[in-house]
Amino acid sequence: MNLTTSTDGQILGKVQCPGDKSISQRALMIGAFMNQNMIIDGFLHGQDPLSTMNALNQIGAGISIDGDGRVHLCKRNQSFHNCENALNFGNSGTGLRLMLGLTSGMGLKASFCGDESLSSRPMDRIINPLTEMGANIESTNGKLPISISPTKFKKQYKYELPVASAQVKSSILLAGLAAGTSIEIIEPIQTRDHTEKMLKHFGANIETSSQDGKNVIKLASSNYLHAKNYNVVGDISSAAFLIVAALIGNSPGLEIMNVGMNPSRTGVLQALQKMGANIEVKNNRLESGEHCADLFVKKSELKGVELSGKIIPNIIDEIPIISIAAAFANGETVIKDARELRVKESDRLRAVSEGFSSLGIMHRNFEDGMSIQGAPNQLLIDPSISIDSYDDHRIAMSFLIAGLKCSKPIIVKDCENIFTSFPNFIELISSIGYELKK
Ligand code: S3P
Repeated sequence: MNLTTSTDGQILGKVQCPGDKSISQRALMIGAFMNQNMIIDGFLHGQDPLSTMNALNQIGAGISIDGDGRVHLCKRNQSFHNCENALNFGNSGTGLRLMLGLTSGMGLKASFCGDESLSSRPMDRIINPLTEMGANIESTNGKLPISISPTKFKKQYKYELPVASAQVKSSILLAGLAAGTSIEIIEPIQTRDHTEKMLKHFGANIETSSQDGKNVIKLASSNYLHAKNYNVVGDISSAAFLIVAALIGNSPGLEIMNVGMNPSRTGVLQALQKMGANIEVKNNRLESGEHCADLFVKKSELKGVELSGKIIPNIIDEIPIISIAAAFANGETVIKDARELRVKESDRLRAVSEGFSSLGIMHRNFEDGMSIQGAPNQLLIDPSISIDSYDDHRIAMSFLIAGLKCSKPIIVKDCENIFTSFPNFIELISSIGYELKK
């Protein structure tokens, strides 16, 4: 599915932020593991969480969705079972990596597969620590297809993360939870802590402390979890596309309601505010152990900034859309320490660079980032420029937003994967004044 932008967009209105993808996936896994009655509200009905739900159902979770989109987890008489058919995680790195931890910890026999993008992504970062814990994992040179078979796990396990990755951290925690292994994880740079927060919310014995500037996360070997209904807050990574649309798209005002404000995810607001963005945060509150708020955003004059070091894991999913904001800011933006972008759903540094080249946006590439020479004026472009999304939802949405500043409509190719994280993107963006045509 290719999408074509329009040239007369003016962003205005009030929208509900779609549910958080990371939290929706964790609520399914931890909810199913607890095996008690529980309802999840605000769930993201995107392809990624749905792949995880299907995989959990294949091993006997019995999760269902009612007509209002509420997710129901019911107490089962039977425990999880092995599965003959491969569990297919589609495009979802979080689903695959966290479920590898959970299912190996549960001692299941299962195999795992995914789409072309997921099949090319590194899995040794999960396989290595899980194998050290005792898991029996066979992979294809550290990639999919992967299979697991039952073994005995160690009683305790300590691991210092070599890459700043919430998926690796969470996979180890879920394996420990399921196997009854006590876990100590040392995290040199903070990554999103939804797993820790959710486990704590349901009563797990988990604590995070700070030692020599590093996070130390300890999960006890036995945990008594108590299910309660869960409200998923909105996804700040999805809100980021709307925020930048309002900032660059001549907006008199856009309200985005119910945006997740977990401090390990709000770096995008700090980065944009440092660039001069007019973003007001109102009605701070707590939902199921996670902070959330409503955002009010207005068109702003932006300036270039440097983004590097500890903020990078916090903004890892927002760097493509921050790069679009930077392209329409005054002066230079420099992004460094973001090598991880090369192993996301696509090589996002390359994908952004190629899109910029097609639009004539001046930039220089580094192995771990790029510098962008921004200018606030409209881009005068030739008709029918098309941009390759590399089948990556965040690249597709980023360049669709860039279309707001183009003198002619642009075509963004292969946008299907938008449905993995933001299933109502086209309708929602049109409801605030920006038409995208199929
Ligand atoms: C996620 C962690 C991040 C992020 C991904 C979601 C999670 O990946 O990019 O979109 O839900 O834990 P890494 O752990 O690979 O950094």
